[in-house]
Amino acid sequence: MLRLLVGLTCLWLLVDSGSSFEVENKPVTEDCLDCLCETMSGCNASAICVNGACGIFRITWGYWVEAGKLTLPTDTALSDDAFTNCVNQPHCAANTVQSYMSKHGQDCNGDDHIDCLDFGALHKLGNLKCQEDLPYIFAKVFNRCLKDKERLAEGKIIKKQEETST
Ligand SMILES: *[C@@H]1O[C@H](CO)[C@@H](O)[C@H](O)[C@H]1NC(C)=O
Repeated sequence: MLRLLVGLTCLWLLVDSGSSFEVENKPVTEDCLDCLCETMSGCNASAICVNGACGIFRITWGYWVEAGKLTLPTDTALSDDAFTNCVNQPHCAANTVQSYMSKHGQDCNGDDHIDCLDFGALHKLGNLKCQEDLPYIFAKVFNRCLKDKERLAEGKIIKKQEETST
């Protein structure tokens, strides 16, 4: 299961990038995107909608609209399927998250900086409610994922230090 998640982890980086859904500001790190998709869907790339929330990040229509209605190169924002086609495609979905966060990024938890914890709250609760408490299961899986990422990153730094000191 873990191997599957890791395999899917960088899905949106591999997908061919068209021009009509590119975004300039990308405030969300790859690790943070990983944890968002892992928490929302287990990074399951099946093109499905669950209660109107679609794709690996379970993005809703309202969220997609707020993010500027990014579309696949083959769609226009006016076409009926533009929303589902974009948010079910990992690259377009990831850029939708980036766009939403660059528009609505804020210090939801009051710790004086805007980071992945805030992006998690914004993603799950929306920009108007991001100060509220997260559902327990979401918080648990998301925080676990972030901790694992931190530990991995620390491991890499230590490895680098060892390499340069020998
Ligand atoms: C992904 O989601 C689909 C549709 O819900 C499901 O059939 C499939 O088993 C899931 N895959 C994994 C690896 O969980």
